[in-house]
Amino acid sequence: MDQLIKPEANILKILIVEDNDALLEILSMLINHHFETLVETIHSPTAKLANTILATHKIDYCFCDHQLIDDLGSDVLNFIILNKLKTKFILCSSFTPEMFPLNYPKDKIFFNIQKPDISEGLEQLFLKINQANSSNKEKSQHNDYVPLSLNLLISLGKMPSDVYLLKDNTVFEKIYSKGENIDPKAWDKFETIYLNKLFAKRHDHNDEMINELDKAINQILANENIPIDRKILATHSQLKELVEMIGITPTMAEMTKAIISEVLAKIITEPIILKFLSNCQFNENYELRLYTLHSILISIIAKKTELDSHQNIYRLVYAAFVQDISMIEPRFQKIIDHKDFLEKKNEFSADEQSLYLNHPTQSQLILNQLEDPLYGVDRIIKEQHEMPNKLGFPNQINEIEISPMGALFNLTGIWSRFILKNEKSFHPQDFLDYMESNNFHHGRFMDAYNGIKSILLTQV
Ligand SMILES: [Fe+2]
Repeated sequence: MDQLIKPEANILKILIVEDNDALLEILSMLINHHFETLVETIHSPTAKLANTILATHKIDYCFCDHQLIDDLGSDVLNFIILNKLKTKFILCSSFTPEMFPLNYPKDKIFFNIQKPDISEGLEQLFLKINQANSSNKEKSQHNDYVPLSLNLLISLGKMPSDVYLLKDNTVFEKIYSKGENIDPKAWDKFETIYLNKLFAKRHDHNDEMINELDKAINQILANENIPIDRKILATHSQLKELVEMIGITPTMAEMTKAIISEVLAKIITEPIILKFLSNCQFNENYELRLYTLHSILISIIAKKTELDSHQNIYRLVYAAFVQDISMIEPRFQKIIDHKDFLEKKNEFSADEQSLYLNHPTQSQLILNQLEDPLYGVDRIIKEQHEMPNKLGFPNQINEIEISPMGALFNLTGIWSRFILKNEKSFHPQDFLDYMESNNFHHGRFMDAYNGIKSILLTQV
């Protein structure tokens, strides 16, 4: 049992302005985790209350969301500016200050943490703080325990680390071990005893635990009513773990984000595409996961071929998000290739079969009606399910007749579906075998095949 050491006088005061309770708890916990000096966090769900707190407390840092229940985060920033407060303002939102330069002048923002990458943003923020103030190098020895929220523990379902109870405000007693399951019903009756009294040892907070918190953040954001392009970027972050398993490092995955964001900014200006993507069921999430994963794989494999120009990758990523614009039905999108379709054919009615077999042509027609169609995308869409040896559809072209862009698009599309079908049990050798038995190592498919193989071989 450890004795609680009384807090120091110069405790840092942090205001968190966030209207999502679950997110607030995670944010509060991560801030406690990262600050190695003593901190006191104060919470506000609204701009109005935040401003009252700022007026009555000496707040060192204010972490603030953009879209609040009553007002905008910029109302909190304005209060700080008008009252000449020394509070450092950190925008913590799915939006960036660059999107609203008038609301968030660059020189008034201390830092920006972009959701969902909260823990990554916090790490960079604390690097900045520590670099700016070298005296902070002397860390507090008294802050060995960080508070754990009861609701957060219940939502995680099991103990993310050993859990300690602060007894009589003086001693910490270990009451649960890492990995123990949490029965929410049993916990109800302890609520008053446990409230604000549960702690973890700071150094028990490991990468595994931060990963769990990141997943919880992504899940919360997925259910929030946020714009589709932000949801897709949240999906991108969710996929990091899955792509790492197949040999794509987090840095490689992160690099694909810039071009995906660029394409998204363009396509959501087309009402037909915006409507299509918004109708994809985000909770079930298969379509958006597929299109985002497909885009990541395209961006990485294209770099290994002659199609590595920005223009080509832009077209291919664009095509990934609109490939099935003529149909919304996850059952169809899960079909891996034409062979897979022929095996599952009887699960679909005659009309459904026809809808599926015609969707490359129909999608191409829809895209040609756009106000500003992107040159080259229609051919990729038309060829999206063609395979070597004329085994694909709708035109049964062969591995020489298909365009290089179409070949790369198709093979990475099949790879994406393989990964999503098998998730953590995806086996690289199985996919290598699949590619060779279907002759993807020939003709225009060969470059993409070699690119994929070079990544998979690091995992076999
Ligand atoms: Fe398709």
